[in-house]
Amino acid sequence: MGKLWGGRFEGKSEAWIDSFGASIPFDQTLAKQDILGSLAHVKMLAKTGILTTDEAKQITFGLNTLQQKLNAGELEFSIENEDIHLNIEKHLHEEIGPVAGKLHTGRSRNDQVATDMHLYLKEVVQEVIVKIHLLRQVLVDKAEENIETIMPGYTHLQHAQPISFAHHMMAYYGMLTRDQERFSESLKRIDISPLGCAALAGTTFPIDRAYSAKLLGFASIYDNSLDGVSDRDFILEFLSNSSILMMHLSRFCEEIILWCSHEFQFIELTDTFSTGSSIMPQKKNPDMAELIRGKSGRVYGNLFSLLTVLKGLPLAYNKDLQEDKEGMFDTSHTILTSLEIMAGMVESMTLNTDIMEKATEKDFSNATELADYLANKGLPFRQAHEIVGKLVLECTKQGIYLQDVPLEKYQTITPLIEADIYQTLASKTAVERRTSYGGTGFEQVQAAIMRSKLKLANEEN
Ligand code: ARG
Repeated sequence: MGKLWGGRFEGKSEAWIDSFGASIPFDQTLAKQDILGSLAHVKMLAKTGILTTDEAKQITFGLNTLQQKLNAGELEFSIENEDIHLNIEKHLHEEIGPVAGKLHTGRSRNDQVATDMHLYLKEVVQEVIVKIHLLRQVLVDKAEENIETIMPGYTHLQHAQPISFAHHMMAYYGMLTRDQERFSESLKRIDISPLGCAALAGTTFPIDRAYSAKLLGFASIYDNSLDGVSDRDFILEFLSNSSILMMHLSRFCEEIILWCSHEFQFIELTDTFSTGSSIMPQKKNPDMAELIRGKSGRVYGNLFSLLTVLKGLPLAYNKDLQEDKEGMFDTSHTILTSLEIMAGMVESMTLNTDIMEKATEKDFSNATELADYLANKGLPFRQAHEIVGKLVLECTKQGIYLQDVPLEKYQTITPLIEADIYQTLASKTAVERRTSYGGTGFEQVQAAIMRSKLKLANEEN
């Protein structure tokens, strides 16, 4: 048997050209979805009387056999059959003979491939949601163990104000919560069936699109057949949500990498998440964190390549659309594995809490405390800022910190400063006193953790 669409052709095909046009090397990932889509389609064809019960029975039997072969790894695909749809149809012919040719009644590969991708992404996004949820759980656990762990908070990568390590973890929790919401909200636009839109214009057969959609578990169907076969927004949205997710993971990885460095020494990763150097025996490199940071590049790339593929396409189907798949598969795999690695890495990392806290003692990150102290005693904040700024300059010249300045000196600056200043300047006090909602004060952090635990538990129900 020649090509399934070979009727109109006289000339011979050439293998090297066929190979350029083929998508089977990568779209075989959709084999499961393709068979499921066909099973629903044939059931609908029988229900509407377009096929006889017997024909539908034979086709269903053939498709089930292919499903079993696929599960057993016994289904082979060939380049001559171009893509997953034609490969499956060819196999069906081999299983059940010419009646297989009736399966394609009232549909086209255009709605077929779109259906497969909707089914595929629906499954992937549900998995992504579970994995983000798990990582958020890890972050909350890490935070809960470290409410009173003090670290320098940074702006411009300069010590700014001391914060709780838990607060830092909970910031990532916040980002990942939004990521998870974005994926959840996108499901609504993935969960739509294009099946029955046919090539572009619908079909003359009395099909029941709502029925096949229901069989496949879709929540709704496309209203417009042209839109149904040419819409790839749901993939773009997935790639865009994935890019934002990877950007968050990459920022986190960047911090992990810094924190592991000799200069920081705030954390240590377990051996499992580190690798050595082939030349420098002492090295323990945070390769996994670097790789996640690096892999954000390919995910952004996948988003941009699909945006570019789509931007000039006239309606409806064009072969360009075949280029929508590899980036989607690659992104799915990349984000799912990155989320897993991230969860394991964060869960198992150990903190050098002493080093972290000490880093807030040999610095000026308590300068705001002194300024706030003066403002509390009635000095306008701008004036207090000026006084403390000058004092910091003097201290840096002498190589001392604010907590080393003797009380007598403080009182020559302003008698407003009393002996309780040293307590105020302690980093723990600085953190503790930031009691404004959403701030780093221990009670605020504790409350944020409680809210998150409740939210996580609710999501599981
Ligand atoms: N392999 C094709 C793709 O992925 C399937 C749709 C082919 N349709 C067509 N009219 N050539 O886009």
